[in-house]
Formats: sequence, structure tokens, C-alpha cells
Amino acid sequence: MSKNLSRKIVILPDEDEFQANPDESVLDAALRAGIQLPYGCRSGTCGACKAVLVEGEIHYGSTEPEALTEDDLINNRILCCQARAGTDLVLRIKTVQETREIPIKTLPSRVMHMKQLSHDVMGLWLKLPSSERLQFLAGQYIDILMKDGRERSFSLANAPHDDEYLQLQIRYYDGGVFSELVFKEMKEKTLLRIKGPFGNFFLREESDRPSLFIAGGTGFAPVKSIIEHMIAKQDKRPVSLYWGVRAKRDLYQDELARSWAEEHDNIKYVPVLSEPMEGDEWQGKTGFVHEAVLEDFSDFSDFDVYASGPPVMVQAVHEALTTRGLPEERLYSDAFEFAAKKEEK
Ligand code: FES
Repeated sequence: MSKNLSRKIVILPDEDEFQANPDESVLDAALRAGIQLPYGCRSGTCGACKAVLVEGEIHYGSTEPEALTEDDLINNRILCCQARAGTDLVLRIKTVQETREIPIKTLPSRVMHMKQLSHDVMGLWLKLPSSERLQFLAGQYIDILMKDGRERSFSLANAPHDDEYLQLQIRYYDGGVFSELVFKEMKEKTLLRIKGPFGNFFLREESDRPSLFIAGGTGFAPVKSIIEHMIAKQDKRPVSLYWGVRAKRDLYQDELARSWAEEHDNIKYVPVLSEPMEGDEWQGKTGFVHEAVLEDFSDFSDFDVYASGPPVMVQAVHEALTTRGLPEERLYSDAFEFAAKKEEK
């Protein structure tokens, strides 16, 4: 699609602006631009994405979506998940500013794909029913509702615009009820009930300060979601990602993280090993991940810091960086949620 065909879309009352191609829905274009319009099913049936068309023309592929009532049509309401922009548009719709504005849903899902990402991390790709999508902010998590009534919480590893499948990264723990199930019994096509989204670990969109991400182990998952979201919305603020694991075999998406840094001048990636194994031939940084960060930066007063991993790592990050100028309110962490994540993450 040639660029000059793209349409400018303005959202009132906030006057957020983004570009949409004529062949994509207004909602898809907004999500790609990092603008959170409300939505539910993304298939034209729930009505959660209604907006008032103030100016411009839209069209809906072949069929008029069923969620529009006569009253909607009289009042110029459109469905953003189905509407394509025929011209530049001005729409009126309240964007999602806070997590509490996102509905928490309980949904069935099917494990469509499983892939062992490392010796002790399994990737799961979950599919919701075709009439459902889960709105969430990059970095949030969901609960898996187990048959015995217990819950297990996992961060979503995919970005919100890339939501055909919900991606989870499950680390194996000896005796961990869910991880034992995943590694020893689960097969593709298994049904799981999920609930979410939850959590306050998400990108602060309004900031243009450099962002420092410090991940430990599978704390990489929500960071992946956030960085892929930033790349999709062409967010150019400087990003540094420090990923701490024990040995090289634990860097289960090392190539992906390297590709972010190679393809984007504003992204830097530093893997850190605490216990390199014989044969790793590791030339990079070693030790605890927060110590590697301290070696590279002397003052954190200008940063937003996102720390995700075991509580002990997040605690160490908190202590070390706040004594070097990081204001507490600019340390966003997954630690409490991590601790509350009942068993494994
Ligand atoms: S009608 Fe459900 S999200 Fe658009």
C-alpha cells in the first residue's frame, strides 16, 4: 500500500492522531500507533469499539456489522474494529487511559502451539474463540484458572497489536503445579480458562524519557511485549534492555533481542550471565544484572526504569538505583505482582 494513500485519523476529545491505511481497520491502525481505543471482540459483534464519526467517510468491507443498531446509524456511530477509512477522519471516542477502564474477562482459550524455548522454558500460544479478543496493555498478565480452583498468573509476551494468539512463557519448577502440567502432560489443543488482564506493569506512553528495562529470567516476557509494542508504534525514545540469567542456555530469546538492537538505533541490548557454564565462552557481562546496570550508568534521575523478575532482583534494583537518583515513582516493577503470582511465572 503506497504511503500517500494513508489517512489521517484524529480522535476527539484528546486530539490523538494516527495514520491508517485504507485496507486496515481503524482499530488495527490505532493499536499499531499505540493508541488504546476500547474494544472487545474485534469481529463486529460486541459493540465495545463504537465511536461517533464527526468528519469523513468510512466503509465496511462486504457486510454491515451486526453490532450497529438503527439508533447508532442515525447518530453516526461506527464500529472501529470493522470500519476502514475512505478519507481522513475525525472520530469521537474515549481512549483507554487507565487499566481500570479495560474490562476484565474470563474466557476459554485453546493451546494452539507449544514450543520449548530452552531447557526449562515452554512457550504457549493460546487462541480465544473467534468472536473474542482480549484487550490489554503491553506488560500486563493473565490468570490461568485451573480445574481445582487455583490460579496461576503469567505475563503476556505478545504486544497488544499482535493478538491473534496470547503468548505465555512458562518456566519449569519442580513441583510447580501448572509448570509440571505444561511440561509433562499438556498437548496442543488443550483447553484453558483464563482471566485478565491484570497489573500495573505497562509502558508509560506519555513519557519521552529514556527507558531502562531490567529483566530476570522469564521476567523477559512482559518486557518483550512492551518493546514489541514500542517498535510497532515507532516510539523512538532510547531503550536499554539488560537481561539477567544464569547461563547462556537461559537466554531463550537472545536472537530476538539482538535483532531489536540491530534494527533499531534507539535500542540497546545487554545480556548478563550470573553463572556462565563451561563451554559458554562468554565474552559479555557477568554477575548480577543490577550490578551490570550500575557499571554502565552513574545517575538514573532522568530514566524510567521497568524491572521484571524475581522479587530479590527487583528489590536489588530498587535499592541500587534509587540511591543513584532514580525517583521511586519512576520505578515500575513486576515484583509485587511477581510475588503475588502464586507460584511461577
Ligand atoms: S464490535 Fe466488538 S470490538 Fe468492535
